[in-house]
Amino acid sequence: MVRFGRSRVSAGLDIGSGFVKLVVIDHTKPEPEVVKVVTSSLVPDAIVEGEVMDPVLVAETIRSVVETAGLKRPEVVAAVGGHDVIVKKIPMDRMSEQDAGEVVRWEAEQHVPFDMENVQIDFQILDPDGTGPQMSVLLVAAKRELVENRMSLLQDAGVTPVLMDVDAFALHNAFEWNHPDALRGLVGLVNIGHETTNLNLLGDGVPLLVRDVPFGSRRLREALQREHGYTAEQAETVIQGRDRSVDLRLFVSERVDELAMAVERAASFVISQSGFPSLSRVFVSGGGARIPGLIDALGSRLSLRVEPANPVQRIGVRPDVLEHVALDEFAPMLMLPVGLALRQPR
Ligand SMILES: Nc1ncnc2c1ncn2[C@@H]1O[C@H](COP(=O)(O)OP(=O)(O)OP(=O)(O)O)[C@@H](O)[C@H]1O
Ligand SMILES: [Mg+2]
Repeated sequence: MVRFGRSRVSAGLDIGSGFVKLVVIDHTKPEPEVVKVVTSSLVPDAIVEGEVMDPVLVAETIRSVVETAGLKRPEVVAAVGGHDVIVKKIPMDRMSEQDAGEVVRWEAEQHVPFDMENVQIDFQILDPDGTGPQMSVLLVAAKRELVENRMSLLQDAGVTPVLMDVDAFALHNAFEWNHPDALRGLVGLVNIGHETTNLNLLGDGVPLLVRDVPFGSRRLREALQREHGYTAEQAETVIQGRDRSVDLRLFVSERVDELAMAVERAASFVISQSGFPSLSRVFVSGGGARIPGLIDALGSRLSLRVEPANPVQRIGVRPDVLEHVALDEFAPMLMLPVGLALRQPR
């Protein structure tokens, strides 16, 4: 994690392929409080499979979102994710954090399929108080180009990144804040976006696996268009639950199979590597969590307790925020930007 500045208010910026979302959190009181939420939909295909296809347009959207928020200084906490970021739990000989910092790049070579010349590495010792000869390290490797592109996109939008996080960590962070009682055992966080689903498996609150799955509301919308002859707008209205005249249950339960399989595959991998007997609960966020019947369908397919995660479950929201955004509707989509804005400014 890279820190660049200090402030008492922090703004988390999530550049999604469907929506750009900004959440501002005030850290001056003992408890953090959401003081602003601004969202703007992105033109279709401005971002495809995580790649910014139209940087001018995306920068404009970011600029307008940040302007609407009326930040005193245009500083944001942003994040990178996708194929060019790898998060992996690796074993290393036990050593101090400082020593680990010197050798982690060599260790990473065995685990990262990128050209190490052009990779930014970060890490965290997961069991710093352990005494065994080995320790668990959470390794993060991001292609330098990805980070640089993200920085220049922000620069073009006139905003300064004060910190560059990783999508999965921000989701985890928001989850920890809001659902601290739900961290025991092996828990899945499933953030279903427009194009991508971020899968996070936590063992007693420690990240064990992070994976992106190509599943999202876009795919469901397109399938609806194909199979039912809807226009994009009609299909989107149905997906967002604004038109309830269409019974989506069968359609959603068929489509969710793909996602359920990805969750099962990830879970069995983690189970084989760790001492956890099974996946105990799953929490869903992202715009996909709002698709009618999706959470229930995933629950019955996995035979598990699947429930929505709420990024403002235990975080205050200043009342005037609710005058500008329908928070009950938008909340599922705010997991990532809330997780970013919660990064306490130092
Ligand atoms: N009530 C709703 N309002 C807006 N979008 C909704 C609603 N319900 C479901 N959705 C779907 O959620 C999607 C946006 O979700 P989200 O903001 O999590 O995705 P994203 O972060 O932009 O995408 P990604 O992370 O995949 O790049 C929309 O594209 C839409 O299809
Ligand atoms: Mg997203």
